[in-house]
Amino acid sequence: MKASTKSAAPRRIVLTGFMGSGKTTLGPLLAARLGWNFIDADDVIVAEAGVTIAELFARHGEAAFRERERATIARLAPGDSLVLALGGGAIEHQSTRDLLLTAPDTLLVHLEVELVTTLKRCKGTEQLRPILADQANLESRYQRRLPLYRTAHVSIAVDALTPEEAVNAILRAIG
Ligand code: S3P
Repeated sequence: MKASTKSAAPRRIVLTGFMGSGKTTLGPLLAARLGWNFIDADDVIVAEAGVTIAELFARHGEAAFRERERATIARLAPGDSLVLALGGGAIEHQSTRDLLLTAPDTLLVHLEVELVTTLKRCKGTEQLRPILADQANLESRYQRRLPLYRTAHVSIAVDALTPEEAVNAILRAIG
């Protein structure tokens, strides 16, 4: 954990990381271990929009999706006893980073994966993930986001970890 991180026990944990890092898989496991609720921000966006994320991208473009994502996260983030999983690109919005890095009792956890792990784990989901489908820009997006993810309070390399091992690593990190 970074020296700048608050020492008190958090009341909410927010999971960030590139596609396939395990946010949606680990989140419910982590929440169950803590006796907390789990919310996936993408699920909320889809439920409220009534269409898939791929359709949102196709109809309104990425910028509109990012704004919807920013507003959704800002609304969900104050929840208590909450594990909140973000979509992989949410970290690109500066106001989302600022919010999650400075909000009291909030711990931003980065699940770090190598790009090769993303490709392996997400193979076949291109129709659901427009950013994965945009292969020409995938590597540069990954490189652009990496330093942003690494501003999180905690970064854990999860490529070689099972979901349970990754949850244990997060629990150890928060003490
Ligand atoms: C995105 C990742 C997706 C989803 C959307 C955009 C991205 O979430 O929010 O397709 O920009 O990396 P996952 O990280 O859960 O796949």
